[in-house]
Amino acid sequence: MSSSKRLFIETVGCQMNVLDSELVVAALRRQGWDMTSTMADADAIFFNTCSVRQHAEDKIYSALGRVRKQKQKSPELIVGVLGCMAQKDQEMIRARAPWVDLVVGPGQLHKVPSLVDLIQTGSGPQLEVSLDRKSGSRLEVVDSFESYDPDRDATMRPTPFQAFVRTQTGCDKFCAFCVVPRVRGPEQARPPHAIIAEAEKLVAEGCREITLIGQTVNSYRWSDGGKTSRLSDLLLGLNAIDGLDRIKFVTNYPRDMTTDLIDAVRDLPKVSHSIHVPAQHGSDDVLKRMKRGYTIGQYMEMLGRLREAIPHAAVSSDFIVGFCGETEEEFALSVELTKTVKFKNSFIFKYSPRPGTKAFDRQVDDVPESVKKERNRLLQEAQAVVSLEGNRRFVGSRQQVLVEGLSTRDERQAVDPGPDGLAQLTGRTMCDRIVVFDAPLRLIGRMVDVDIISAGAWSLAGDVADDLANAVPLDRLEQSGPTVHQIQVPSQSPPQIAQRS
Ligand code: SAH
Ligand code: F3S
Repeated sequence: MSSSKRLFIETVGCQMNVLDSELVVAALRRQGWDMTSTMADADAIFFNTCSVRQHAEDKIYSALGRVRKQKQKSPELIVGVLGCMAQKDQEMIRARAPWVDLVVGPGQLHKVPSLVDLIQTGSGPQLEVSLDRKSGSRLEVVDSFESYDPDRDATMRPTPFQAFVRTQTGCDKFCAFCVVPRVRGPEQARPPHAIIAEAEKLVAEGCREITLIGQTVNSYRWSDGGKTSRLSDLLLGLNAIDGLDRIKFVTNYPRDMTTDLIDAVRDLPKVSHSIHVPAQHGSDDVLKRMKRGYTIGQYMEMLGRLREAIPHAAVSSDFIVGFCGETEEEFALSVELTKTVKFKNSFIFKYSPRPGTKAFDRQVDDVPESVKKERNRLLQEAQAVVSLEGNRRFVGSRQQVLVEGLSTRDERQAVDPGPDGLAQLTGRTMCDRIVVFDAPLRLIGRMVDVDIISAGAWSLAGDVADDLANAVPLDRLEQSGPTVHQIQVPSQSPPQIAQRS
């Protein structure tokens, strides 16, 4: 149908959600919808939601509360809840917020355009979710989670020159604390040719950096005619694409950090030497209760192989504090691991019990909130010390930086220096460290050399070194100074830790 209706979409959570929103927006645009950045003038308000922690859900329910008045004033307004919360709470969403018209799980997003049509033509509220993991055979459940990847929309990307590409959906690891296998369904890989073709198309449209995403991206496997493709094969394929400068991949599962992958990261010039490989905890006993499937000894063995192959590899982690039964001694082991490994950065979360997980059913959430808060603070503090130490080693080096846009300071002040006036810009090094520097706006989306002059725990500051007229395309690693490489996706940058934990 054709219309010039306006859609407002708010996306919370991980990179998967950012990509899902991009795909939903692309599909609705083809139906004549435009985007708006203000709720007040929207004809449809969608929330693409996250269920990983209670806090993320609470925020959506209060946002729905705020939308209620607008819906009362304009009954034709379409209010939608998409993504993980839709899959987890299903009918409960409309029980709590009856003014919601559309509830669609992450495995059913391809139906959004037709469901919106149904609502517009008077068919009433629509709910589409996938099967619960226990309510059918694996095949039936797999079939009910459709991977949805065909359409893209450049305006919805982190920047027009950076894009996420999905390698697989779902997760089969079932860590005791984690709701993802329930809400995103069984692990399903996409065929390698589809992934490479999508990347080629994005590069032809001007993308210079691709981040492969999967819940456990390094578990990727696709078998066809006796040949098995793994993540290392995908990296090889992407590395050969002309015009693509940088390749990243998140998130890695420690036990699937195979030697072929480590060798690919070492040998392929466009692949960032940074690995986000969450340890989650420093204690073997807690890891066992978390059902993570490895010990700290095995984690360290994996790191040993990684650092032997790539001595400057940078490693980042996720940690959960205050998991069921966590003692002072056990918590101290997470602090110790942080200091020993010297993670480049860590995302630290207070344990949040999630219905439908093994920990929720069988373990007691017995660490008081005040203790979780304090442990969160202590671990952040330990991480800040090692992050600062790591960043300081860059002072005096020259780094190649992909310029992403205005710094938050200049964005806040709505600076408009004109194309050649200097603004404070921000970008990332090949190892994904954030760098701020003054430069003309026309450098956004380009690769520049920056001399690093100072370091904080979360970012570096520097001066642009090149002749600005000749901002260079990314070459292989800048070898002056330590070449530490680090993955960190925009949705997880350190300043946001406080909001997410
Ligand atoms: N593989 C996924 C993990 C999704 S959840 C990825 O792509 O990142 C992201 C992080 O949230 C996990 O690594 C874990 O540290 C944290 N997390 C998951 N469940 C949690 C819970 N119940 N409470 C607190 N933190 C949790
Ligand atoms: Fe969650 Fe563990 Fe999978 S953290 S996404 S169940 S690897």
